[in-house]
Amino acid sequence: MLKLVKLTPEMEDEFIGYIAEWGDERIVPAATSTKEKTYPEMLAYMALCEHKETCPERFVPDRTYVLINETNRILGAVNLRLELNDYLLNFGGHIGYGIRPSERRKGYAKEQLKLALSIAKSFGIDKVLITCDNDNKGSFKTIVACGGILEDKREDNGKLIRRYWITL
Ligand SMILES: CC(C)(COP(=O)(O)OP(=O)(O)OC[C@H]1O[C@@H](n2cnc3c(N)ncnc32)[C@H](O)[C@@H]1OP(=O)(O)O)[C@@H](O)C(=O)NCCC(=O)NCCS
Repeated sequence: MLKLVKLTPEMEDEFIGYIAEWGDERIVPAATSTKEKTYPEMLAYMALCEHKETCPERFVPDRTYVLINETNRILGAVNLRLELNDYLLNFGGHIGYGIRPSERRKGYAKEQLKLALSIAKSFGIDKVLITCDNDNKGSFKTIVACGGILEDKREDNGKLIRRYWITL
């Protein structure tokens, strides 16, 4: 069975393997990037990001989870923003996600997003905004499969972003 869980200190080795697989690809969600942080530093930063009082200026509180299977292999990760600021409303949305390269095209993004939506609901969010690059077919098919309705496309620094809403 697949689950979304928060990272713990014990998951370091598994997480390092998960991140290594991304190679030079931009890691999504960015919250799981260890490029400028050690694993313990990343966990400490994630904890600060959970609360308005301690999250970085101009950020909103968020939660980061990883998708694990029965053997505790990390398949993907998701970042849930608990509210929207101007940037998130226009371009970033409530939820960012990624699946490790070796586990793509197996339906995991759809499973992961469904689990993330039920967590969003548990935080009292009833309409979720999810965005993606105009040409990111794997991402917009995932959003549509989970009930996403396209509102519009907006331009961010010359890049067209699709904006979808899902009513929970
Ligand atoms: C986008 C991403 C999350 C998709 O993950 P995935 O586990 O491969 O997606 P799924 O297997 O659940 O597939 C979802 C749908 O997208 C389709 N799909 C997935 N990757 C695709 C691709 N590269 N090209 C075309 N369609 C694709 C699947 O066929 C499926 O469609 P279906 O419902 O008609 O069967 C993954 O490619 C990824 O992590 N990419 C890098 C990070 C990223 O772009 N994140 C999203 C940011 S908004």
